[in-house]
Amino acid sequence: MRYTRFDVRPTTGALGAEISGLNLAEPLDDIAFAELNAAWQKYLVLFFRDQQLTPEQHAAFGKRFGKIDPSAYIPTLPEHEDIRIQDIQDSTQIGNDINWHCDNSFREYPQKCSALYAIKVPEGAGDTTWVNMQLAYDLLSPTMRAFLDELTAVHDLVETMGPGILKNFGPERWQAFRDRTPPVEHPVVRTHPETGRKALFVNRLMTSSIKDLSEAESDNLLEFLFRHCDQEELKCRFRWEPGSVAFWDNRCTIHRGIADFYTDRRIMHRVAITDPDRPH
Ligand code: SIN
Repeated sequence: MRYTRFDVRPTTGALGAEISGLNLAEPLDDIAFAELNAAWQKYLVLFFRDQQLTPEQHAAFGKRFGKIDPSAYIPTLPEHEDIRIQDIQDSTQIGNDINWHCDNSFREYPQKCSALYAIKVPEGAGDTTWVNMQLAYDLLSPTMRAFLDELTAVHDLVETMGPGILKNFGPERWQAFRDRTPPVEHPVVRTHPETGRKALFVNRLMTSSIKDLSEAESDNLLEFLFRHCDQEELKCRFRWEPGSVAFWDNRCTIHRGIADFYTDRRIMHRVAITDPDRPH
């Protein structure tokens, strides 16, 4: 693909590209959208610098890719419920959320993609990293890929985050969490609806077990997969500045924020788009 509307600079050999020459505050016409979508499918996470977005412009950019996923837990901007606020004043209190994940895989319809916009960034800290889960799949042996292709995983946030809720807030809060977030099942390997490429679809924060295996088999296989995905050769890392935007595909990447900013405040605005299809 030749890009006529912007320049593309790959971030690493695994994934990610910085896009320059595109103002996201302006509506994307069909050519710009087609080129951006092609770059996104190739690089899986796109980075933009020096953007100045109103909440409406931020939401309009996200809506080019689907429907906004309404926020159930995360606070939103007053008057702009499409925009979630991540305002973190003490990164040591984030807890589990810094584990590798894709957004909302504990739901039947996870989030297709997210556009995160930096408002206030600690200097030299608070980077985000991503993993290419298509490459992670491709680098497994054909025998392992064939085995995984047939498996189903359980994604259950209560298994992974529940013990902390029980300890810190007690059994009633734990029960309310259980009632709100039942376990869901997804294939261990999903196929990208637009490119047809297969990707591993498990993550340390939300995947609790693999169906039809013994507990020991499931635990060991998941641990192997989590470690396999945690290789530098599969990753890219982004250093935020105020006005930076990262736009990633949750269907074929996982990510992790680096909580190294301690008491230096970090404020981000996020637009999340729902996956219209269940992973398959
Ligand atoms: C996330 O963990 O979903 C967001 C990553 C970040 O804030 O860096």
